[in-house]
Amino acid sequence: MTGADRPVIVTGTGTDVGKTIATAALAVLGRSAGLDVGICKPVQTGLAPGEPGDAHEAARLSGVERVLEVRRLPDPLAPETAARVAGLSQTTCEELLGPIRDWLDSPGTGGDATGVPPRRLDLVEGAGGLLVRLGTDLTIVDLAAALDAPLVVVARAGLGTLSDTELTVRAIDAAGLRCAGVVVGSWPFDPDLAERCNLEDLPRLTGVPVLGRIPYGAGELPPDEFVRRAPDWFEADTVATLERSLPATVST
Ligand SMILES: Nc1ncnc2c1ncn2[C@@H]1O[C@H](COP(=O)(O)OP(=O)(O)OP(=O)(O)O)[C@@H](O)[C@H]1O
Ligand SMILES: [Mg+2]
Repeated sequence: MTGADRPVIVTGTGTDVGKTIATAALAVLGRSAGLDVGICKPVQTGLAPGEPGDAHEAARLSGVERVLEVRRLPDPLAPETAARVAGLSQTTCEELLGPIRDWLDSPGTGGDATGVPPRRLDLVEGAGGLLVRLGTDLTIVDLAAALDAPLVVVARAGLGTLSDTELTVRAIDAAGLRCAGVVVGSWPFDPDLAERCNLEDLPRLTGVPVLGRIPYGAGELPPDEFVRRAPDWFEADTVATLERSLPATVST
């Protein structure tokens, strides 16, 4: 194994919280710090073959070239449900892990004149919230455990997010995994009282930092503007926080 084989999992408190846009912004942040970034969506639902999925959308916004989608299911449902409804086999952990490990082990892009490969940041976006079934008895928690990967939780900004986010971080803790921090998936131009208070309460209640806030509407920005602006949406030490959350490099 190399140091490149530990991804960061981007999960969320639910579906539509902005995981894809947050993944794209984290990818830009990583690239701006000189990291070689990849984006993976293990299971994509709700799209026909050939349509751009979440990983492709995040890559389009961020300019990332290393992209992997392992499995696609047609109906816009939780992956386990989508497989059942379509009469297809349930996704297994092994079926996802094989291609993801190969992708993590594949050579990165870039490198500098010294021949030293750049450090890597491989982002893996879950489907829906933390405990959504990717297959029978399979959640993103199992994938994170198998990959020994830390997780970032994307959360809503407004009233109700405190409990959702604390539940998600507690479930990550209970599984013996690390949560590197929270990203607010869509931060309004004019935050209300609850949204402003949540910024203070989220770190206190979850025990992890708020790493960043993606402005409302960011997903509609032209990619060049998205790339220019995204690093400013994160706390200055976010890349270091992510790298610290990765387990120590193991060489063979
Ligand atoms: N900051 C944002 N700016 C603009 N649009 C956003 C933002 N966050 C989310 N959206 C929009 O909200 C919708 C849901 O966001 P997104 O697809 O990122 O959610 P998700 O958490 O990745 O959902 P899924 O569980 O389906 O992967 C999309 O239409 C997206 O364009
Ligand atoms: Mg998504």
